[in-house]
Amino acid sequence: MTKKEKYEDLLPQIKSLIEGEKNTVGVLANVTAALRSTLGYFWIGFYVVRDKELQLGPFQGDVACYHIPYGKGVCGTAWEREETVLVDDVEDFPGHIACSSLSRSEIVVPVKNDAGKVWAVLDIDSINISEFDETDREGLESVASLLSSLG
Ligand code: SME
Repeated sequence: MTKKEKYEDLLPQIKSLIEGEKNTVGVLANVTAALRSTLGYFWIGFYVVRDKELQLGPFQGDVACYHIPYGKGVCGTAWEREETVLVDDVEDFPGHIACSSLSRSEIVVPVKNDAGKVWAVLDIDSINISEFDETDREGLESVASLLSSLG
């Protein structure tokens, strides 16, 4: 199955996981599980905006840091810019927060509410350099937009 086909399979599945459910933590946990079982990347999870910082939310993968300030690391940068940040090689990203030395590339997608305000970010890390491309950006931005009503 190509990556594009994997996202095409995932989107209706994720839509049905979200629809009608108000338990935000549970939904984010299930979305993480669905993404991980189909895409299999090294670390997949959410940081949620709380107390003016990003705080660790549901994820699958290795132990991660709890707090990320606004504008810091790839996650804080995606929050600040309010747009997806794709990093081919984390060593080339100034201020990258290394939760695991195994992580080599990453993509972070802001999750906005219906008013357009960022309330979380979806962070995906890979052990391979240059893992992520426009197919990931498109697929993950579609996932993020399905989550808008929970923010
Ligand atoms: N790499 C992220 C920090 C979170 S961990 O990768 C799970 C960053 O620089 O924002």
